Amino acid sequence: MELKGLILSGGKGTRLRPLTHTRAKQLIPIGGKPNLFYVVEDLVEAGIRDIGVVISPETGDEVREALGNGERWGVRLTFILQDAPLGLADAIRTAQPFLGDSPFVVYLGDNLLSGGIGHMLETYRRQHCDSVLLLTEVEDPRAFGVAVVDDSGRVTRLLEKPQDPPSNLALVGVYLFKPVIHQVIATLKPSGRGEYEITEAIQGLVDRGLAVEALKVRGWWKDTGKPEDLLDANRLSLSQIGRRIEGELEEAQIVGEVIIEKGARVLRSTVRGPAYIGPGALIEDGFVGPYTAIGKNARLIASEVEYSILMDESEVLRLPYRLDSSVLGEKVVVDGSGNTRRHTLQLILGDRSRVKL
Ligand code: TTP
Repeated sequence: MELKGLILSGGKGTRLRPLTHTRAKQLIPIGGKPNLFYVVEDLVEAGIRDIGVVISPETGDEVREALGNGERWGVRLTFILQDAPLGLADAIRTAQPFLGDSPFVVYLGDNLLSGGIGHMLETYRRQHCDSVLLLTEVEDPRAFGVAVVDDSGRVTRLLEKPQDPPSNLALVGVYLFKPVIHQVIATLKPSGRGEYEITEAIQGLVDRGLAVEALKVRGWWKDTGKPEDLLDANRLSLSQIGRRIEGELEEAQIVGEVIIEKGARVLRSTVRGPAYIGPGALIEDGFVGPYTAIGKNARLIASEVEYSILMDESEVLRLPYRLDSSVLGEKVVVDGSGNTRRHTLQLILGDRSRVKL
């Protein structure tokens, strides 16, 4: 049976407020591209062509519009509405009519991997197992689902946020299941936080004596649903960006790995990569420092920014401070006209916020 893909793109996104008041967190641009696009690309690269996308009533339309029908990637996308964010196992249950009898890869829409999932599918095909879990070493496993793995790489137990972690191997948001998982999910009860937990479903597989294989991620993994990881994910994805200049330059100094998209203009400014300047953006008398991504039609005028994300149509005007480690939502305006003191600011602002200094 062909493997299908299932991207989970519903949820509440409370940890990324205010950014998620007005936007799906899975569409927040990382390295100039919505997180969800990387997820689709990982599935496509692994040869998966039939992909379901679980969406919520609040942000479903936006997600649907951004992804389209999958033509862009040569795949078929099916959108599946989950009425309420009742947990990852509930999302899988909601998608059961789409999944049918196929084995499938579940990929959380706010997760990012640098090394893709090819090795996960290889393991599945080689081991003839019932499930493959991707794991990564973390500093503090107490905040994660933790797997206990035997010498042969088989998962023997799962612990959710253990006080006394038996290992530092945390579950990341990518899982491969055979359809037997649906039988386990049907028996689940809501957990203490009122959700149908995927870790309980996987524990159910282990309890039934089924083969759950553990596999380490290749390269790095980020959960971009956590504010502290958003800028770090942006940094990591920009660090592999390459150099491509298609915009217009005038007295511009462009250093290192930089993408300047068509229709963007860089006038009397320095862009020091790794950096991404989106289509139609204007950088005038400015400085764009390393690890910065600037969205479509954004404007940076007589201002300096580094290690930041400026989303589409945001504006930074005559700011006497250098913006650092900042995330500006769509259409945010930061206007420093008239102020002359120099300090550093850190801003996390939602769409349509306005800051007047
Ligand atoms: P989470 O980050 O665990 O949950 P959340 O999106 O509700 O965010 P927060 O904790 O900040 O409130 O979700 C991981 C991914 O799975 C994310 O892309 C949203 C998605 N998801 C669903 O599709 N359905 C669900 O019921 C849940 C809980 C999450």
